[in-house]
Amino acid sequence: MEKKDLKGDDRISFVGKRDIWQDFVYKVKKNKKKVWQELEPILEDYIKSNWGFIMQTSLTEFKQTEELNQTSKYEDNTYINNEIEPNISNKYKYGQYFTKTSIVKRVVNLILNYKSYSKNIDILEPSFGTGNFISVLKDKEFNNITGCEIDSSLTDNPMDFFHFPIHNKYDLIIGNPPFTKYNVVESYYYPNNYLTSPINKEHYLTKKLLKKEKEKIENIFILKSLKHLKNDDSSIAFVLPISFFIKNRNKEIKEEILKKFSTIIVYQNDKVWFDYHIPCCFAIFTNTEKYNNKIIVIYENSEVHESVFEISSINEELIPEVIFNKNNGNTIQLNGIELENYLSKKRIKCNKSFKENNVSGKNILERTKIPENSEIKNYKLAIVRVGNSSVGKCGLININEDTLNDMFYVFDFKDSYINNKEIKEKICEEINKNQDYFKQITCRVGSKSIKKEDVYNFKVEI
Ligand SMILES: C[S@@+](CC[C@H](N)C(=O)[O-])C[C@H]1O[C@@H](n2cnc3c(N)ncnc32)[C@H](O)[C@@H]1O
Repeated sequence: MEKKDLKGDDRISFVGKRDIWQDFVYKVKKNKKKVWQELEPILEDYIKSNWGFIMQTSLTEFKQTEELNQTSKYEDNTYINNEIEPNISNKYKYGQYFTKTSIVKRVVNLILNYKSYSKNIDILEPSFGTGNFISVLKDKEFNNITGCEIDSSLTDNPMDFFHFPIHNKYDLIIGNPPFTKYNVVESYYYPNNYLTSPINKEHYLTKKLLKKEKEKIENIFILKSLKHLKNDDSSIAFVLPISFFIKNRNKEIKEEILKKFSTIIVYQNDKVWFDYHIPCCFAIFTNTEKYNNKIIVIYENSEVHESVFEISSINEELIPEVIFNKNNGNTIQLNGIELENYLSKKRIKCNKSFKENNVSGKNILERTKIPENSEIKNYKLAIVRVGNSSVGKCGLININEDTLNDMFYVFDFKDSYINNKEIKEKICEEINKNQDYFKQITCRVGSKSIKKEDVYNFKVEI
């Protein structure tokens, strides 16, 4: 069966399965120069987050896909070859992850709970992909919908949203814009690509962004959408990467958003939104009387959990799952003393090597004691900062002798503890006993990653 014969979620599933394998093969090939030790945690994370699909697809299918990758073109006219930097398929270049219909239905209902719109409002879906937002809106009898989609394999009338005339104004701009993949250069927005565009980029880029070489494309989708708003009752409602709401990220974009909107709703649930797991939220930027100057953060698992913040918290961490974990005690520590009382904030230099390291996430737990007769002051705290299975593991490394891979934060102890073997070992033990704390606090991005602040805030009972 061909992709074009399929509809709705079946079509997404077809494209998604092919893409999972393309993605897997791409990552393996891209990383083939790396030593296995480095590749293993990446694969482990990858397999965990895509286990459902991997289980559904046989090894034969994998081999066939591999052969296809090497010999023939894909239907999107790109192919992955055996080089280290393969051609990038439209999936990577255009961020093609199509939102499941069940998720679209949920988020469309969500916006209608907060904002009552008549059926004849003008709606824009700026990057409609397989059209799931449009279908759900039509089922709800919203019929004035305009769409843009750049990829000619998905539409007979391809249109780059950045070429779409700004004089078109809408009551609701809704969808799932492409997200930039940080290591895929083609997935960024480059102002210089639009030098001859009929739409002057100065109309939607900020002065600072006009000078930048590139920016995450989802951010520019937001900025341009701000220019398509009809009036104060208009809203923007986008699926965004959850990382958009990490503390102090995307400040410039948030500042522009606040010039137009005084109510923000950030919704996340415990479901997988695409055929591939990317941690996302649905962000609604709007104006409501009831929630004027408020941010509503909603996390839905078996129930809906809502927290309300002042709009001035916009640059704080607004990740619904993290807030839910905090509010429900999963990451609350009532007793103990914060590690910032024991750890120095001074940066320390340690040997790091991609290839020639003797300390990695795999063996760090073998280093929780300071060997007898060694100089205690040379032992520093190393804590794994990334990786779904290893994040939060820690040990004591010898700053003069050990070489670490890049998975660690290394902390020195405050002067008063620098020669205290017992305290150093006890801190290490307490952290390792509470690895779940670090896992639960780190649902910010695809692969778990902690911040130094998370370590300083962790409480130990000594
Ligand atoms: C994340 S997908 C989402 C598709 C759809 N909104 C959904 O939720 O299923 C992003 C879509 O944006 C399209 N796209 C990427 N860059 C674009 C651009 N500059 N203008 C219009 N569409 C674009 C991609 O081809 C892809 O179909």
